[in-house]
Amino acid sequence: MNIIGISGSPTRDGNNEKMIEMALAVAEDRGFEVDRIFLSERTVSPCTACDGCKNKKECTIEDDMAEIYPLLEDADGIIVASPVYFGCMTAQLKALLDRTRVLRRQGFLLSGKVGGAIAVGGSRNGGQEKTVQAIHDWMHIQGMIVVGDNNHFGGIVQVPAESDEVGMQTVRGTIDKICDVLGMIKQ
Ligand SMILES: Cc1cc2nc3c(=O)[nH]c(=O)nc-3n(C[C@H](O)[C@H](O)[C@H](O)COP(=O)(O)O)c2cc1C
Repeated sequence: MNIIGISGSPTRDGNNEKMIEMALAVAEDRGFEVDRIFLSERTVSPCTACDGCKNKKECTIEDDMAEIYPLLEDADGIIVASPVYFGCMTAQLKALLDRTRVLRRQGFLLSGKVGGAIAVGGSRNGGQEKTVQAIHDWMHIQGMIVVGDNNHFGGIVQVPAESDEVGMQTVRGTIDKICDVLGMIKQ
């Protein structure tokens, strides 16, 4: 089984990429295949509401989403991390999530995948829970099976992430829960 990690940060090797790498290492240890999409190294433009996905069932924008769509379709589990920007996810991540409308139009291709979320903020109460909830909203609208960290809502982290022991535990809890649920439903 395959788990994909998405970082919505524009910062190469930043806190969000580190949290995704940590989560994917846990999943690998548990026998899952893993892959990653780092938006620091991809170009994804915002949806223009051209309705190509509605009328022709295809996205008309030519950019890195062409490589990202098959990665999402092939995944059994998806863990998404975002920096908190003004209390919500980054514009880069929102662009990617909006562009998956075509997968919904093609027959809910993300439905049944298991998803969890991580939010990293500069402040302790900087909007991490709201950001996690916004990512969960996308997962629900795609028909995914949404999990938390087996305690609360998911990965809630303050920078510097690698010093936030409690935050890292919520990231480990989230990826463990994704792996546990995949083990239950894919037997
Ligand atoms: C435009 C902008 C807005 C931000 N807004 C918030 C915020 O509302 N709450 C917060 O806790 N941190 C905020 N931050 C800090 C980022 O969340 C933090 O630097 C980021 O999670 C670091 O992750 P990265 O190293 O992966 O980029 C903001 C940073 C930027 C650049």
